[in-house]
Amino acid sequence: MSHVVRIGMLGCGTVGQGVVGILHETAGTIERATGHRLEIAKVLVRDLQADRPGLDRGVLTTDVEDILGDDRIDIIIEVMGGVEPTREWLLRALGHGTSVVTANKQLLARHGPELLAAAEEGGSELRFEASVCAAIPVIKVLREALLAAEIESVMGIVNGTTNYILSEMRRSGMSYGDALRQAQDLGYAEADPTEDVGGGDAAAKMAILSSIAFHTRVLIDDVPYSGIDALQSDDVDIAHELGFVMKLLGIARLVDGAVSVRVEPALVPGDHPLASVGGADNAVLLESSMVRQIMLEGPGAGGTETASAVVSDVLSIMGSRPGSFLAGALADAGRPMAPEGSLESAFYVRLEVADQPGVLARVSSVLGESDVSILTVLQRGEGESARLVMILHRAPEGRVRQAIGRLADMPEVREQPVLITVVGSGEAPR
Ligand code: NAP
Ligand code: HSE
Repeated sequence: MSHVVRIGMLGCGTVGQGVVGILHETAGTIERATGHRLEIAKVLVRDLQADRPGLDRGVLTTDVEDILGDDRIDIIIEVMGGVEPTREWLLRALGHGTSVVTANKQLLARHGPELLAAAEEGGSELRFEASVCAAIPVIKVLREALLAAEIESVMGIVNGTTNYILSEMRRSGMSYGDALRQAQDLGYAEADPTEDVGGGDAAAKMAILSSIAFHTRVLIDDVPYSGIDALQSDDVDIAHELGFVMKLLGIARLVDGAVSVRVEPALVPGDHPLASVGGADNAVLLESSMVRQIMLEGPGAGGTETASAVVSDVLSIMGSRPGSFLAGALADAGRPMAPEGSLESAFYVRLEVADQPGVLARVSSVLGESDVSILTVLQRGEGESARLVMILHRAPEGRVRQAIGRLADMPEVREQPVLITVVGSGEAPR
């Protein structure tokens, strides 16, 4: 006879509805394969009147005590979002021995260690595959398959909304605003889409991935980030002319044993594996001398896609016993954070300069004095001004930024220079 596993859900929006749909469609398969019947016992929402296909209205509640105070709930699925009161509620559930599956990267990137400690103390499990790259099982791969692979670098496209916007702008010439609206309509964007376009969503995911890959506590405050909201379409177009593709990248690597993590728009050579990752897809490139390169690619956002990772975590909890190594808190190797500016990279620089004799020579001499050398130059006259685009050879970022600061001070330079990291070519961080 089947054993019933009672599920309490916090939230039932884009991802929650996906969970309801998958559990409904796969109930028979799950019961045959595991001997367990999953039952959605209670669902916390704000609006009791909203349409929730596939859900009996009787299970809906607006009172969290109907879930947290019910001892018969076996597993809580948190697909509500937000940091508070979610943190407080999950701490309570984990502390009382109720296992939790969550898709909430902002919560984990701020309070992951506290939540994992509560799970260990309460003899419960906290699983969060859906929090990073939706349907791609990157956390399972890092935590289990590559646990001892001594990962040196994690680089990837970890936000579906921004990848969708950049891809659509290039593919169909859609405007930034229209592409963002489409991403929202398709259920890819966060409730507050500035988290996506500003880079905060990707930063939270990179904090989670780096913590696991480098066995070190990395929180969102350790991750400097910028998004695509300040990006100029000119730079996207020029990059394309030069054979690069602009992507919002998470770049995490070990620099002399210290952890360096960041999120920024970066240029990827057209033939690089990350260049062809389009739409709302995500991809993560993992590197270590042991495994060389492994790239995981797939759907990075969306209700059903994310829900598939949530359901997979529920099944993993059902299949693992408390106290196994998977249920434990993340190991902490105590690595320091790398000093800002220490990462070496190639760079794209765009300067708007006065079109006068000798300007290019003065620009290259300022760069030369900082020991920064130029790989490619593209110059275009535009009346009294000229646009100077350079790809710089690989150099430490701090040194390059210092040189760019000196260029910005030159009287012939008319606008703040644009500096963008180039990854993945022979000149980029590897
Ligand atoms: P959503 O569509 O906005 O759904 C949120 C749900 O939570 C809604 O059902 C809402 O209730 C409920 N809710 C929110 N605050 C509540 C509160 N204080 N009390 C009770 N109920 C509350 O969000 P989503 O896109 O499904 O995302 C949910 C989580 O998954 C977030 O952490 C997000 O970062 C993460 N995630 C999303 C995706 C994606 O592609 N969308 C992918 C990966 C991870 P009402 O329905 O009554 O408004
Ligand atoms: N808003 C997120 C994204 C959802 O676009 O990637 C997946 O975490």
